Amino acid sequence: MNVISNTQTMTVSPTVPFHHTFPLDAWRICEPGYDVNTNYLSESLFALGNGTIGLRGTHEESYLGPEGSSQEGNYLNGFYESEPITYPENAYGLARNNHFMLNLPNGKGMELWLADEKFNLANGRIINYQRQLDFRTGILSRTVQWESPQGRQVEVVSERLVSFTDRHLYAIRYRVTAINFSASLRLVSTLNANVSNLQTADDPRVGSKITAPPLQVLAQQNKPDFLGFEHKTLHSQFHVVSSIAHTTNDWVADELVGGDDEQDQHQTQVLARHFIADIEQGHSVTLCKFGCYFSSRDYPAKELMLLSADYLSRARQQGFDHFAERQREYLQAFWQQADVEIAGDLALQQGIHFNQFHLLQSVGRDGQTNIAAKGLSGEGYEGHYFWDTEIYILPFFLYSKPEIARTLLDYRYLGLQQARQRAREMGHKQGALYPWRTIGGEECSAYFPAGSAQYHINADIAYAVKQYLEARDDQEFLLNCAAEMVWETARIWLDLGHFSGTTPEVFRINEVTGPDEYTALVNNNYYTNAMAKLHMLFALTLVEKLRRDHNEDYRRIIDKIMLTEAEISAWKSAAHSMLLPYDKALQIHAQDDSFLTKKIWDFANTPDEQYPLLLHFHPLVIYRHQVCKQADLLLAMLLLPDQFTLEEKRRNFDYYEKITTHDSSLSSCIFSIIAAEIGDHEKAYRYFMETARLDLDDTHHNTKHGIHTAAMAGTWMCISYGFGGMRIINGQLHFSPTLPRQWQHYQFQININHATLNIRIDSEATEYRLTAGSELKFFHRQQIVTLNQQEKNHRILNRITDYE
Ligand code: BGC
Repeated sequence: MNVISNTQTMTVSPTVPFHHTFPLDAWRICEPGYDVNTNYLSESLFALGNGTIGLRGTHEESYLGPEGSSQEGNYLNGFYESEPITYPENAYGLARNNHFMLNLPNGKGMELWLADEKFNLANGRIINYQRQLDFRTGILSRTVQWESPQGRQVEVVSERLVSFTDRHLYAIRYRVTAINFSASLRLVSTLNANVSNLQTADDPRVGSKITAPPLQVLAQQNKPDFLGFEHKTLHSQFHVVSSIAHTTNDWVADELVGGDDEQDQHQTQVLARHFIADIEQGHSVTLCKFGCYFSSRDYPAKELMLLSADYLSRARQQGFDHFAERQREYLQAFWQQADVEIAGDLALQQGIHFNQFHLLQSVGRDGQTNIAAKGLSGEGYEGHYFWDTEIYILPFFLYSKPEIARTLLDYRYLGLQQARQRAREMGHKQGALYPWRTIGGEECSAYFPAGSAQYHINADIAYAVKQYLEARDDQEFLLNCAAEMVWETARIWLDLGHFSGTTPEVFRINEVTGPDEYTALVNNNYYTNAMAKLHMLFALTLVEKLRRDHNEDYRRIIDKIMLTEAEISAWKSAAHSMLLPYDKALQIHAQDDSFLTKKIWDFANTPDEQYPLLLHFHPLVIYRHQVCKQADLLLAMLLLPDQFTLEEKRRNFDYYEKITTHDSSLSSCIFSIIAAEIGDHEKAYRYFMETARLDLDDTHHNTKHGIHTAAMAGTWMCISYGFGGMRIINGQLHFSPTLPRQWQHYQFQININHATLNIRIDSEATEYRLTAGSELKFFHRQQIVTLNQQEKNHRILNRITDYE
C-alpha cells in the first residue's frame, strides 16, 4: 500500500520488489532453516488439512519459543464451543452466542532422547535443516541433522499427512538415524489435551474471548495399541474423541512407563507411549504414528471411542505408505482438474499452486461444514464462515471441483431454519436471514454495524445458487433446496426496503452495511441494492421455471413456505424500481446515498504505521470519511457486469481506487480483475501480485493467525475472470483474454455443464480445448465458438491491443 501525497489518495505502487519468504518453486514451499522467531508464520503456511481435520505446522517436538512466537493448533471443521456474548450495554436482537472453532488435543507430539540428551532444535547445533510442503504429494516433510551439546549427531526425518481420502486420519512417520554414535534412544509419543485457544488480543480479527475451559475430560484409554481421550464441550455439548496409535518394527514399547495407572497423566491431561531402542552408529529406527478425531457432530457420542479404535487399528494395518500413495493419487486427479499454469513467473506460479492447495485443504465437503476465513490453519476470525464462501471461494470449486461447490450450498440449506429464526429476531415476519458470521448456523457477529447489518449475505448466497445452477444442471438441488432457499431469502428485501410512494416509484433499502466495512449503516448501498434486485429477479425466474416445468414441486414448496402471489408480484415491482445511486456531476455510481458527500480521508497525513485503519481509529472516525477498506462498488461491477458500460467501469475504478486502502485481503483481487477489464494491464498485474502471494509473503502481517482463504480464491478469479475475461452473461459463457507482458503463456481450465474446457493464452493466440464432455458453446469476445467431438480445439489469433 502506498500513498501519493500530491493527490492525497491511495494508489498501487508500480514496482516495489517483494521479499519472498521461501525459495521459488512451482510445486512446493521449502523452509531452508529453522528460526524460532518465524515459527508462528510457518505454522500457518505449513498447516495440513483435508476439510475435516486441520493441523497447524508445528514441529513434532513442540518448541516453545519466546512468548507469542508459536500457537499449537489442531482443529476439526465445524466443531465449536459456544459462549454467550456479553454486552456491557444490551439491545434487543443482538447476536446472543459466539461460536469458536476449538483447539483440540495435540497428537503430533514426539520427544526424542539420545541417551540422556533431548533432541531439541533450540539447543545444540543444527547441521542441516529443510522442511517442505509438497503440493503434489500432500506430505509435509522435515529433514534435520543435529548435533547435541555432547557431540552426538543424529538425523531425524519426519513426514506428516492429513489424509484427503480418509477424512478422520492423520499420520506421521518419524525416522531417527544415529550418525556418529551408538546409544540407547527413547521416544515419547504424546497425545496432549493441555491445549487452549488463542485469547482475544486488541485486534478484533484474532482469537476468542473464552471465560471457562471449554473441554471437559469424560474418559481416557491408555492401551498398548490405542491411546484416546473423550472430551465434551461445556456449552455446545459436543463430544470429541482424539486418539493415537503406533506401528514400528524397530522400537520396543517401554511397559514400565505409561499405561492405565499413570496417575499424573490424568492430571496433566497427557497420554504418552514410551519406546526404547538401542541403536548402532549408522543405523535407523522408524516409528509410524496414526491419529484421528471423531465427534458427535457426525456420530453418536457413545460410539466415538470404539469407532476411533477400529479406525486406527485399520490404519495401522494399512500403513503409512498406503495413505501416502492414496494422497498422491488424490492430488494427481485434483491437479488434472484444477491446475493453473503461468509460464514465465515462478513466484506467481508458486503463489497460485500454494493457494489452490490450501483451498483444497480448508474446504468442508460433507454438507455440514463450510470453509472458514482462515481455513483450518489458525484461529483468526475464530473459525467463522462468512460471505467469503459464496462470493470469493465458490467459483473456484464450482469450476474446478463442482461436487464441493454443491456441498457448500448444502451447508446453507441446512442452516435455513436457523436463518428463519434469525429473521424473526430481526423483526421480519417472513423469510430467512442468513448469519453474517457463524459456524453452527447462529448469528455470531458481536459488532452489528460491520456484522448483522451486512444484509447482502442473503443476496450473496442467492447469487451463488444462481451461478451454481447456471454451471450445473442439478435438478435435485433446484427442487429440494435452491428454490426454497432463494424464495425465503428474497422475502427479506420486501420487508427491509420500502417503496417511496413517489412517481416514478422507487424502492429503497435503508440502514444496511455493504461489503466495505469502513462505511457502515447507510441508505441504498449500491452493491446491496443491485444484488437484491438480481436476487428478486432470480426468485421470479425460479417461480416461472418451476410453475412451467415442475408444477407439483412448485405447489409443494410454496405451500410449505406459504408464499403468496402478492409477494411474487412485489418482487417484480421492487426489482424494477430499485434505487441504484448515481452521481451525475461526477458521472460515477455512488457507493450509497451519502458516501460522496463525506470528506475524503487524509491519506497524505496517514503514515504507513496507521494501516490498517481499523486498528488505529475509532470506527466513527472512519465511517464519516470517504475511505474504503475493500472493493464494494467495484465488486458489483464484477458480479453484475452487464449493468455498467466500459466507460462507467473506468470512471468508477479511477474514483474508488484512490480512496481504497485494501486493508481487507478481499480487495486487491477485485481491483485486479476490473483493471484487466478496463485495459489497465499494469495495475491488473500489480494487484494480482498482491493477492497471489499475500500469505506466502505475509503482506498483511497476520498470516500467523491463519491463511486468507477468500484472497486465495481471489487469485483464481484474477486468472479466470481477470486475465481470462471470463463472465457468465445471460447464462452464456464469455471470454475476453489478455496476456500480462511478464508472462510467456498461461492456462487454466473450467468444468461447466459436464464439460471441461482448457484455455491457453500465449502471445500469439488463445487456444480453447474441450478435454471432456461432448459439446460446449461460448463467446470469445463477440465471436461464438462451438467445440464438440468433431472440433475439439479452436485457436484464435490475438488482437494486438490485448497485450500492451
Ligand atoms: C472483511 C470481510 C470478510 C472478513 C472475513 C473482513 O476483514 O472486511 O469482508 O468477510 O474479513 O474474511
